[in-house]
Amino acid sequence: MSGETLFKVTYGMYIVGSRSGDRLNGLIINTANQVTSSPPRVSVTISRNNLTHDYIMESKVFSISVLRKDTPLKFIGTWGFRSGRDIDKFQGTNYRIGGTGAPIVLDNAIGYMDLKLVNHMEVETHTIFIGEIVGSEMISDGEPLTYTYYRDIKGGHSSKLAPTYDGWADKPKGPASKDLSKYICQRCGYVYDPIAGDPGSDIGPNTPFSELPATWVCPLCRAGKDEFRLAN
Ligand SMILES: Cc1cc2nc3c(=O)[nH]c(=O)nc-3n(C[C@H](O)[C@H](O)[C@H](O)COP(=O)(O)O)c2cc1C
Repeated sequence: MSGETLFKVTYGMYIVGSRSGDRLNGLIINTANQVTSSPPRVSVTISRNNLTHDYIMESKVFSISVLRKDTPLKFIGTWGFRSGRDIDKFQGTNYRIGGTGAPIVLDNAIGYMDLKLVNHMEVETHTIFIGEIVGSEMISDGEPLTYTYYRDIKGGHSSKLAPTYDGWADKPKGPASKDLSKYICQRCGYVYDPIAGDPGSDIGPNTPFSELPATWVCPLCRAGKDEFRLAN
């Protein structure tokens, strides 16, 4: 299949927030779509492997924050490549609790919606959640971030857990001689993929393992570079 035509489908970038009891979590998505205007409903498509998926299933509420064009890559790295299973993404983040009880991320957001779940559909690897908007507000001026801008101008990458994962496009853009071998952390099993880099630590795409700074540590368990070995 050629991915060319799929690349011409346009998306925005958002943070979806949800909760499980007292625990809050959220993730980056690019798959928010308005479904109907009356009643006002929006769908989001979320991988079953993502923790936020389970939180929405459980609490039946979620929020959508619309990200601003100048959202830093590091912020996207934290919310789009790290899991709430390993870190508390809400620590150090400005947020509020919406009328539904869902947490709403305010950092880098130009507006938000607060939704209650009205339906969902399992689609193999992902679930499409449909929510009804019960509250929404604009919080700052600015243009929304589009997926194209994130990818083409900011040099950002998708995630294997995104339904629109552009695996076929994740080819090295630099000289063919770059070593893009993957390295695995022997302590926790995290795999460093040079094509994606490590946005959470400001490591851009196409950064070979050998070019990571000596101070770089595993984003999951904080092991040093010397605890990594070539992945098969
Ligand atoms: C640009 C971008 C777009 C993404 N879009 C989606 C998406 O639409 N749906 C999804 O399930 N995951 C998407 N992801 C992946 C999740 O944000 C990522 O797996 C996150 O770490 C899951 O966090 P959690 O386990 O705390 O829920 C995207 C990631 C990036 C970087």
